[in-house]
Amino acid sequence: MTEPTPTLPNDEQIQKALSNVIDPELRKDIVELGMVRSAVVHANGVVDVTVSLTTAGCPIRGHFEKAVREHVGALEGVTGVNTAFDVLSDEEKSGLQKKLGRASLPEGALAQVGRVICIASGKGGVGKSTLTANLAAALSAEGRRVGVLDADVWGYSQPRMFGLGAGRPKVNAERKILPHESHGVKVMSIGFFVDEDSAVVWRGPMLHKALTQFLEDVAWGELDDLLVDLPPGTGDVSMTLSQLLPDSQFLLVTTPQQVAQKVARRSADMAAKFNIEIAGVVENMASFVTPEGERFPIFGEGGGRLLADELDVPLLGQVPLTMPLRENSDAGIPLVYANPDDPASQAIRQIARGLIAIAPIAPLPMVDEQPPEPPAPAGMSLPMA
Ligand SMILES: Nc1ncnc2c1ncn2[C@@H]1O[C@H](COP(=O)(O)OP(=O)(O)OP(=O)(O)O)[C@@H](O)[C@H]1O
Ligand SMILES: [Mg+2]
Repeated sequence: MTEPTPTLPNDEQIQKALSNVIDPELRKDIVELGMVRSAVVHANGVVDVTVSLTTAGCPIRGHFEKAVREHVGALEGVTGVNTAFDVLSDEEKSGLQKKLGRASLPEGALAQVGRVICIASGKGGVGKSTLTANLAAALSAEGRRVGVLDADVWGYSQPRMFGLGAGRPKVNAERKILPHESHGVKVMSIGFFVDEDSAVVWRGPMLHKALTQFLEDVAWGELDDLLVDLPPGTGDVSMTLSQLLPDSQFLLVTTPQQVAQKVARRSADMAAKFNIEIAGVVENMASFVTPEGERFPIFGEGGGRLLADELDVPLLGQVPLTMPLRENSDAGIPLVYANPDDPASQAIRQIARGLIAIAPIAPLPMVDEQPPEPPAPAGMSLPMA
């Protein structure tokens, strides 16, 4: 006599079981979140489930594995559960953000900020952070009210560039975080909240939350320019900010190498995808000139011009390689303050003037205009606070 074949669960039952698996951070189930990539029931009762994560190194992988095994394993006829993981594509992640209602900042956030300029590049180490700090200094020297948001949550460098080691920012009466200030430039960085050298693992949604809070819950006050120092490439941070800040502009940094220009193009493609305007291109690490006037094009020539022409945007400047620019970044005093006449400072000041020239003209305040309602106090759930 043969054993009767146990009935195997159908798709609907599997999905129902999986809908008991809750993402602890997003507080929704993985079916609703679209994180179940596949679920296959084999004739022997083994079920293979693939869950899509927001980031490969997701710290709560183990939680999903256990919960999937528990809920699917409890179904009649299931003899075993295999759980595998993959990562959501950029499109899927952006769909998830939308589903969570996180595609944009609430109305009124950044209402007092004239414009946002994201300093971007396709590859790392081209001088984004150095330029961000020095452009902020140069814009401030021109009389602009300037803020710097260090959005490089992994490799934050603005605290060092501005010589700000100064502990956790305070919170004001409206429960907004007060940025640190250096030479009149307001600076906010994740580096103020975490211990130096500690590795921070960011899951997509947490990252989104932290960036949103940096924009929404920081007392930026009235600013003409908010410069955002992006991490290299077109990863989660750049994508999230492009989504959160559709009115921002990108300033693309490239080295003179023609290959670098090709990589920088990727940032431009991402900007185009989110309809973000490109303010212009800056070529950094242009020729090194000796005190005797001899020129050395260490990183080649022409990359900035090529990229600007290809994108049909202005080449706002070429910043030469100079030792003092590097030394001052390390010492925490932007070179533009320390030595405004250094060739690199001069080039950066010229770029700043170019950026002012293309800034929208702020409307004059109406005499009888009511001051805007202060925004409602925001929740203070910065993950690192
Ligand atoms: N024009 C320059 N002359 C000399 N040194 C420079 C110049 N521009 C940048 N540097 C130096 O190059 C290094 C990399 O610069 P920076 O950290 O600004 O690059 P980044 O694009 O922000 O890098 P990441 O992609 O890692 O964030 C730093 O040590 C900086 O001081
Ligand atoms: Mg950087």
